[in-house]
Amino acid sequence: MRIAVVGAGYVGLVTGTCLAESGNDVSCVDTDAGKIERLQRGEVPIYEPGLEELVRRNQREGRLRFGTDLAQAVGRAKVVFLAVGTPEGEDGDAELRHVIEAAEEVARAVKHYTVVATKSTVPVGTAGRIQEIMGRRARFEVDVVSNPEFLKEGAALEDFQRPDRVVVGAGSDRARRIMRELYAPFVRTERPILFMEPRSAEMVKYAANAMLATRISFMNDIALLCEKVGADAEQVRRGVGADTRIGYPFLFPGIGYGGSCFPKDVKALLATGRRHGVDLDLLRAVEKTNERQKRHLLSRAVRHFGDLAGRVFGVWGLAFKPRTDDMREAPSVEVIEGLLGKGARVQAYDPVAMERARRRFGERVTFAPGPYEALEGADALFVVTEWSEFRNPDFDRMKALLRAPVVFDGRNVFDPEEMREQGFSYFCVGRTA
Ligand code: UGA
Repeated sequence: MRIAVVGAGYVGLVTGTCLAESGNDVSCVDTDAGKIERLQRGEVPIYEPGLEELVRRNQREGRLRFGTDLAQAVGRAKVVFLAVGTPEGEDGDAELRHVIEAAEEVARAVKHYTVVATKSTVPVGTAGRIQEIMGRRARFEVDVVSNPEFLKEGAALEDFQRPDRVVVGAGSDRARRIMRELYAPFVRTERPILFMEPRSAEMVKYAANAMLATRISFMNDIALLCEKVGADAEQVRRGVGADTRIGYPFLFPGIGYGGSCFPKDVKALLATGRRHGVDLDLLRAVEKTNERQKRHLLSRAVRHFGDLAGRVFGVWGLAFKPRTDDMREAPSVEVIEGLLGKGARVQAYDPVAMERARRRFGERVTFAPGPYEALEGADALFVVTEWSEFRNPDFDRMKALLRAPVVFDGRNVFDPEEMREQGFSYFCVGRTA
């Protein structure tokens, strides 16, 4: 099937590449000519395990192309995916400018019956707005469908190719048939493709992310209470998750959720609530808990050291989670800004996110070539991202490099008892030695 993907960002690239891999003829377009040139050379501008190899292979085999000519790509496509960015607007709602502009351009470019599928996370009712644009501007019949994405950064290819479910909000049988055909290689009976009205599909995306964010904030609250009453949040997590009605995923307490999705989508859903006079009190609390959580370990450091001015802190991990170089809404930013704001110095290391972090912090932070170098002469270590290479470090080497053996662990990567035995002052989330 001929496919056009508008927007060669994270979602667009993964969608386009996976659809090429399943045998379709895919054109990805973007207005950023520099990015397109790099992609044409087979360079993927984001870090996502396995993506670059897959892009190159599909390019070589002629199923995947990159360009800036939207009209040409759309004119020959049967399905057009809109995967442009939806940054946070002033009122917290998703900003739709790029989506609407892209939709107008697509409307002018269609040359026959076309399905236009929104992949960008957009407020409920957006598919309807785009359908109206098509009605006004397109010279051929267009069906607009909502096809939200549920990819996790760092596992995006696997999530696309083996999805828990595919959600398609479509109003016509013709569009449903085409979408079913397109996703057939990825869905089996136990991995359903769920058809519904576009508004419900749009809501599924927000409700799913808000639910996951709620689980995390809930466990962060419980972890805080565990610290106070002397319970162990890790044991509690296991005991709670074992209930099949609850399950294990997304119950890890930590330094707060970050990334390009949860914080933005929670805000956008709150904005939708406000617009419709629905008080989403629970979700407001989720957001508040997350803000507190990002500062939690910093408060512990202040309690431990008193004044932080002149102290040096090693920081392990900058990305908002492992296996990505994405720094958007990363808890590391809150931690580092907090430390710098209190007059401390920061020596940071991350396996892949240092280039992005350098753009964010410039000269204000020292970037170390490796995890141990980040500890040289430091008063303490902050673990902010749970990269697996941080999980089994050489504790003796750490102790030799640190001025005092103090670790603030925002991801519970170490065992409190072992840390105590090793002689560390160890502070983590919801657990005490
Ligand atoms: C999230 C969703 O998981 C995807 O399904 C969705 O498609 C995506 O947002 C999106 O809307 O595009 P992502 O932001 O890549 O994916 O990352 P997650 O793995 O969900 O992690 C989000 C944040 O929650 C991270 O900061 C992570 O450290 C934190 N987290 C996750 C916890 O603190 N505890 C947990 O138990 C799980």
